[in-house]
Amino acid sequence: MNLISVDDLTNEMYLELFGLTEMFIEVSTRPIPKVPTLRGKTLATVFFENSTRTRLSFETAAKRLSADSLSFSASTSSLSKGESLFDTINTLDAIGVDFLVVRHSRAGTASMVANWTQAAVINAGDGCGEHPTQSLIDCATLVRRFAKPDLESLDRSKTINKYLSGLKIAIVGDVLHSRVARSNIKAFTNLGAKVTLVGPPTLIPDNIESWPVDVCYDLDQVISEMDVIYLLRMQNERFDESMVPSTLEYSKNWGLDMARLKRLGPDGVIMHPGPINRGVELTSEVADSTQSLILDQVRHSVPVRMAILAMLANLIGGGHE
Ligand code: CP
Repeated sequence: MNLISVDDLTNEMYLELFGLTEMFIEVSTRPIPKVPTLRGKTLATVFFENSTRTRLSFETAAKRLSADSLSFSASTSSLSKGESLFDTINTLDAIGVDFLVVRHSRAGTASMVANWTQAAVINAGDGCGEHPTQSLIDCATLVRRFAKPDLESLDRSKTINKYLSGLKIAIVGDVLHSRVARSNIKAFTNLGAKVTLVGPPTLIPDNIESWPVDVCYDLDQVISEMDVIYLLRMQNERFDESMVPSTLEYSKNWGLDMARLKRLGPDGVIMHPGPINRGVELTSEVADSTQSLILDQVRHSVPVRMAILAMLANLIGGGHE
């Protein structure tokens, strides 16, 4: 099994992942935070785009599950000598890897790689496509914060769409280029949340009517109704300057400052997948406020990615108990 899109996940898989995440959060508190689940397995991170959080948390997750890990970096590889992506993947396959964690600037790359390898492929972000493991981190963070305790006593597989029911989430900013937004819209609505997209009209996709979301171009109009403000990074590397008047204009209209945070109310929370641009999507005061879950998202990244690897290993018949 591969994890290319959140569409690959059944409701049972979400529940299994939330359960495993709790288990691995407990493991992370032990003096030696390590279990033998992936002993004898090898994971390779294969990144053609820069990363801090995703690469380091996958490599930490692999180590805590007792797997060996390899780190392929495009800039220092034989790609510079003309080797193709296809031959690079064949080479890793021949070395012998069980998991390929792939990031690339082109949408569809992880899916293409999955056709060339025996390893389980995990999409760690493909251009403007999807970022399913970031989405699972965000879902786990929201479920830990907001899920209804009474769900425990019900038939859990039938109640997945009630986990975040009634929760109002605004996803704010550069939706057009955001793989995180594409994965999160599907996952948040699957868990029962109501999603509103907010941003400049030029950064909201044209075919938005077919998405299960509301759209508003004015953050001030909706902010007081929201429980969660999920900020997106301005992906300057993926668009030309003409899509927003200026960074200053963007932060004035769609950036989160203390005045807007006050209107969100004391129970509202702020999320961002990172990396954050202080002074653009949010001010430093907001980023460092007690209402910010940004570092909680990072804290959950290792146990959630351990859960993903353990679940996939189990599905392909390789994990140790
Ligand atoms: N959120 C995220 O994917 O961060 P990195 O680009 O640092 O991996």
